[in-house]
Order: sequence, then structure tokens, then C-alpha cells
Amino acid sequence: MRIHKFGGPEQLLEEEVSMPLPKPGEILVRVHAAGVNPVDFKLRNGSLKLFAGKKFPRTLGFDIAGVVEKTDRSSPFKPGDRVFAMLPFKGGGYAEFVCVKCEFLCPIPGDMGMIEAAATPLAALTALQAFRKKEYLHEGHKVLINGASGGVGSFAVQIAKALGAHVTAVASSKNLDFLKELGADEVIDYTTEDFTKQSQRYHKVFDAVAKSSFKQCKRILRKGGNYVTTVPDGNLFCSMMCNFLRKKKATYIMVKPSGEDLHVIADMIATGQVKPQIETTFPLKEGQKAHQLLETERTRGKVVLTME
Ligand SMILES: NC(=O)c1ccc[n+]([C@@H]2O[C@H](COP(=O)([O-])OP(=O)(O)OC[C@H]3O[C@@H](n4cnc5c(N)ncnc54)[C@H](OP(=O)(O)O)[C@@H]3O)[C@@H](O)[C@H]2O)c1
Repeated sequence: MRIHKFGGPEQLLEEEVSMPLPKPGEILVRVHAAGVNPVDFKLRNGSLKLFAGKKFPRTLGFDIAGVVEKTDRSSPFKPGDRVFAMLPFKGGGYAEFVCVKCEFLCPIPGDMGMIEAAATPLAALTALQAFRKKEYLHEGHKVLINGASGGVGSFAVQIAKALGAHVTAVASSKNLDFLKELGADEVIDYTTEDFTKQSQRYHKVFDAVAKSSFKQCKRILRKGGNYVTTVPDGNLFCSMMCNFLRKKKATYIMVKPSGEDLHVIADMIATGQVKPQIETTFPLKEGQKAHQLLETERTRGKVVLTME
């Protein structure tokens, strides 16, 4: 599924292309499922063009799960291995085959399905890496997660619990039971309560959907606590410039593909501490529908494309 110009979901087109050829150090993976993330529709509609450039055609997609098709002798993987990965910025996951560097790949744990595996990398890596920003999230720490029912947030709640933190999760009324099922210790309904005005204090506030600001959240941070958002803006950069003057810090996460970090997440999945949450799946050729759904900003967990 490729785009030839920026625009709406209709720009996402199914096309036949030649088989990708792995370069030295790369592995050819037959993709079984591809995760869909908000960055995909932001690349499609052009809102990231300053950052990502205007090179077309572009095959979208950063999350893949599949089976190793072809490898070189130096690789730790062999044909037939089940693997998943977050791809680097070039993307290319909405496809039947993709070449991936070894360092980004991780074996799929146990009997985990391809759909769950494809739903995991980018969102789970974002959450894990956010908890390692500034002060690491430790056992006994109190963390507040805003947007906790979405792709990133649903992993963040479970990963924070796996790290031993006390989790307060924020979403709208319809998702509160879901947050409790994920393991949240406390939940806040943002439609009836402003979480930035409560009396609790946190070691970390992770705004997975970037709907708050550091200025609003500063008062609910403990001394030495930090605020991490997923979408930085001018105000955030101004706040970051003053970090050295304050005990409470502002920062943002820019997720990086990492097979090593994915191993940490795979271990949490293998031990049952983390389970990917799937809103729905679409066949690859219905990628347009998947984008339309994700753009509502109302999905619970992840949307995944499957190969037929
Ligand atoms: N910087 C990075 O490296 C990075 C990495 C990953 C994602 N991101 C960005 O992070 C954002 C979230 O990604 P995602 O995959 O989690 O998105 P998503 O799955 O589309 O998020 C959907 C969720 O957002 C919640 N939500 C919507 N408005 C809300 C509000 N005002 N307050 C609290 N929750 C709200 C919804 O819950 P309700 O229905 O209950 O409102 C829904 O469950 C996107 O903008 C994405 O581009 C950045």
C-alpha cells in the first residue's frame, strides 16, 4: 500500500511492486501482519512533511510481524523464524515483503499470534522508552498516564505495572473498565474530572496522546518528577529550555527502533505481564479504512492490517 502524494485516506493505493532485495546485514521478511500507527496517517496527510520530506512513492508502515524468508550466514536468524520489528524511518511495513536490519528484529515470543505481534513494536517501544526518559520509572513510583486506552497508552499501563509502578490511568467514561482490566490502580475520567487539578503527586506524568501541557501538569509532579509527552510543540521546547532552573522537568519521547528494547517487551509478553490490545483488523487492501478509523482518535488499543 503506497502513496504518491499527500492527502486523505484515498491516497493509499494497493500496487504490485518488485520484490525487495536485502542488502548485506539485512533480512528479508515475509510480512503476515502490519500495525497501524497515527504517524502513518500523519505521513500520508503531509503534516510531517517538513520532517519526513516529499519522496514518493512511499510505502507506509513501521510495525511488522512475519517469518524470515531469506538471511545471510552472519545473521542469528534463519528462514522460518517468526519475528517482529519496528522499522526505521523509511518504513515500508504495509507490504508482503520487507528487508529489515538484524538489529531491529526480535523473535516473536512463544505462541503469540502475528496480529498481536504486529500491534506491539512502535507503541510498546514508545511507552518503554518514555519510562526511561529523565528519571527511570522504578518500582513503587507513582505514574499518571493520559490517553491510557489508546495504542501507546494501553501498553504504557501494562509496562508501568510490570516495572512495579503505581498507575493512575486517564481516559473517557467508556474506557474506564478497560483501564482497570489492563491493571491500572486508579482511573480518572477526563470528561468529568481535570486530572491536572487533583491532589495526588506523581514521579512521572506520561501524556501518551499529548493533550496536556507541562505548564498544566507541573503542579501534580513531585519534586524531581518529570513530564513526558509524545508530540512536542513550541511551548514544550520553551519549558525544556528552563529545565536546568527547576527540579521538575519537561521532556518528550521520540521512539527509536530497537531489537534490544523489543526483547525487554517480548519478555514481559512471555511472562504474561503485557498483552497487546487489538481494536480491530483489516486486510492490507483495506488500509484506507484502517486510516479512517485511526483518525477518529477513539480507538481502544491497536489497529492491524493482515496479509491474505
Ligand atoms: N513521539 C513518538 O515517538 C510517538 C510514538 C508513538 C505515538 N506518538 C503520537 O502519540 C499520539 C498517540 O498515539 P496512539 O497510537 O496511542 O494513538 P491512538 O491509539 O489513536 O489513541 C487513541 C486514544 O486516545 C484517547 N484520547 C483521545 N482524546 C483524548 C483526550 N483528550 N484525553 C485523553 N485521551 C484521549 C482515546 O480515548 P477516549 O476514547 O477514552 O478518549 C483513544 O483510546 C499520536 O499523536 C501519535 O502520533 C508519538
